[in-house]
Amino acid sequence: MSVRHALIVLAHPDPQSFNAALAHAAARALTDLGARVSWSDLYAMGFGAVAGRGDILDAPAEGPFNLAREQGRAHAAGTLAPDIRAEQAKLAEADFVLFQFPLWWFGMPAILKGWVDRVLTLGFAYGLGRWWNEGPMRDKRAMLSITTGSPAGAYAPDGRNGDIERILWPIEAGVLALCGFTVLPAVVAYGAPWMTDEERRDHIDRLCQRLRALEATPARFFHPLSDFGDDMRLKPDVVPRTPGQHRP
Ligand SMILES: Cc1cc2nc3c(=O)[nH]c(=O)nc-3n(C[C@H](O)[C@H](O)[C@H](O)COP(=O)(O)O)c2cc1C
Repeated sequence: MSVRHALIVLAHPDPQSFNAALAHAAARALTDLGARVSWSDLYAMGFGAVAGRGDILDAPAEGPFNLAREQGRAHAAGTLAPDIRAEQAKLAEADFVLFQFPLWWFGMPAILKGWVDRVLTLGFAYGLGRWWNEGPMRDKRAMLSITTGSPAGAYAPDGRNGDIERILWPIEAGVLALCGFTVLPAVVAYGAPWMTDEERRDHIDRLCQRLRALEATPARFFHPLSDFGDDMRLKPDVVPRTPGQHRP
């Protein structure tokens, strides 16, 4: 199914950065494919990164505060903060979400992690029993486009920084697949600060090419809930599969 409505979530403080260039090139490629493109340029928006009581318009001013429970209650009551509701509305419309960010400390920049913490609320993005392949985002595809400072070798299985799969897993599995997204393989620009202009252009082309070939790109594999027993471990007759080795 071709992309009808894409959402690009960009987390970079510099509008002139390689990350911003990748996001804009992706937007052009998706538009050329006939998709409508929405943006969440988190730094430009000044998006608040810290989840808490402020996210819930009718939160109790003091006393115990259970964030997940309050998020679920406020989502049902329509009392989530307006910036969260606006992001949820963009997500609800999108059938493809591209996350563009530099790898910071082996993970997402805090502003993007905050977007995840605040926007992917109980009730909206997951619910007890409504997650993984049964999650609310199950009709949407998502893909990471990441830049790193270290070169590809550092992210090889025996590399100094550890296999890139270990870094992708918390985001692709713990956030995206858990909410139900179909996860397309990440595009990684290794050693971005050391790339020549030509290498950057080549990488931008590679990302656009991937977007043009989305329909033919096999999704990453995550075991469906039915593969797990009550102990949350794979049933004895299920052959374990990993999402697959990612290679540059
Ligand atoms: C706070 C911070 C943390 C970083 N952590 C990592 C890291 O864990 N691994 C890595 O390979 N590069 C790391 N880098 C380097 C960035 O990933 C790199 O500079 C960026 O991907 C280049 O893209 P840009 O030119 O668009 O900023 C870090 C940079 C910053 C500022």
